[in-house]
Amino acid sequence: MIVGVPKEIKEEENRVAVTPPGVSAFVSHGHKVLVEKGAGGGSGLLDRSYEACGAILVDSAAEAWEEADLIMKVKEPLPSEYSYLRPGLLLFTYLHLAASEELTRVLLEKRVISIGYETIQLDDGSLPLLTPMSEIAGRLSLQVGAWCLQAENGGRGILLGGASGVRPGKVAILGAGISGSSACQVAAGMGAYVSILDINPAKLRYVHDILGGYVTTLMSNRANVEEEAVDADLVIGAVLIPGAKAPKLLPRSLVRLMKPGAAIVDICIDQGGCAETSRTTTHRHPIYVEEEVVHYCVANMPAIVPYTSTYALTNATLSYGLEIADKGFPRALQQNSALARGLNTYQSMVTHAGVASAFGLPLNPVEQVIA
Ligand SMILES: NC(=O)c1ccc[n+]([C@@H]2O[C@H](COP(=O)([O-])OP(=O)(O)OC[C@H]3O[C@@H](n4cnc5c(N)ncnc54)[C@H](O)[C@@H]3O)[C@@H](O)[C@H]2O)c1
Repeated sequence: MIVGVPKEIKEEENRVAVTPPGVSAFVSHGHKVLVEKGAGGGSGLLDRSYEACGAILVDSAAEAWEEADLIMKVKEPLPSEYSYLRPGLLLFTYLHLAASEELTRVLLEKRVISIGYETIQLDDGSLPLLTPMSEIAGRLSLQVGAWCLQAENGGRGILLGGASGVRPGKVAILGAGISGSSACQVAAGMGAYVSILDINPAKLRYVHDILGGYVTTLMSNRANVEEEAVDADLVIGAVLIPGAKAPKLLPRSLVRLMKPGAAIVDICIDQGGCAETSRTTTHRHPIYVEEEVVHYCVANMPAIVPYTSTYALTNATLSYGLEIADKGFPRALQQNSALARGLNTYQSMVTHAGVASAFGLPLNPVEQVIA
C-alpha cells in the first residue's frame, strides 16, 4: 500500500501521525510511505530522519493525499482538505464525528472509508488509541487549569496548592476514566483538595485504591455534581460516552452558581463538552469568560506538548496502521474486531451507532458492511 502522512494543518497542531521508526516499520512490511516535507518539524522530527528510514518526502499535501491508498493523520480533515477526499480512500485518524455533522456528511458524500482512532475499542470496552492522548490531556488539564485561575486570565487568583497557613484550591473532576484519573493524580500531587465523580463505581474504586486519603470519590448524580461544581475553584470535564455527545452535566444555570473567577477545563469538548456554556477554543485563544467563569475548551490539548504526544500516539497507532496496510479493507477489520468497531463511515453509510444517533442517520452495522 501507499501510505500518506500529510502535515497537520489544524491551528497549533504540531503532532505528526507517523514517526521515522514508524516509517521503517511500514517500509519493512513492503509499503511505500509518502511524508509531506516538514510534517514532523513541530515534534522535532527532521525530514532527513524520515528519509533515512525510507520515507519518500513530497513537497505538498496534495501529493501525500492524492497518491496514497491509506492516509494517516492526527486530527480530522479540515475544510481545506475536503477536496482530497475521494471514494475508496482509507482515512485513519482522530475523527470525533459525533461532534461534527458537516464532516460526517462530507465523508459520506465522498464515500471515504473512515476509521476513527477514538472509536477503536477492545473487547473489554477500553479505547487503546484514545488512552495515550487522554492521559496527556488529563495531566495537562491541571497545568492549564492552574493558569486559568491566575488573576490576569480572569481567574480567582488562587494557587491550587495553597501556601503555609492558606487553604489550597478545590478541584472537582467529572469522570474517572483515563483523563479524569490522570488529572486526579496531578491535582492530588499539587496539593489541591480533590473530588472526582463517575457513574461507574469500578472507576471510583480504582481511584480510591491508588489515591484514597488524598481525594474524595463520589457517585455522579445531579445533586453531587451541583454540590461539587458550586464549591470548586476548578472543574475538569472528563466524561465520555463512547462515540456519542458528552452529557451536559453543567447546565448554564449551574455554571451561573459557580464562584466568580472559577474555571472549567472541558477536556471532553471534542465530543461537544459537558458544560452548556462550553464552545471550542484554540491554542491561540484558549480561554473566554462566560457567566463569570473562565472556560478552557481546546479540542487538541496534547498538541502543545508535541514531542511527548507524537511518541505516545504513534506507539499506540502503529500496529493498527500496519494491520490495515498489510491486510487491506475489509480483511483487516474482519480479523480484528477492535479495528472493526473503529469504522465510522463506509461509502455513503454510517457504521458507528454513536455517529448515527447523533445526527439521526440510518445505521449500517459494521458486521454487515465488512461481511
Ligand atoms: N481536549 C482534548 O485535547 C482531549 C484529549 C484527549 C481526550 N479527550 C476527550 O476526553 C474525553 C474523556 O476521555 P477518556 O479517555 O478519559 O474517557 P474514558 O472512557 O476513559 O472516561 C470517561 C469516563 O466518563 C464516565 N462518565 C460517563 N458519563 C458520566 C456521567 N454522567 N458522570 C460522570 N462520569 C461519567 C465514564 O464512566 C468513564 O469512566 C473524551 O471525549 C475524549 O475524546 C480530549
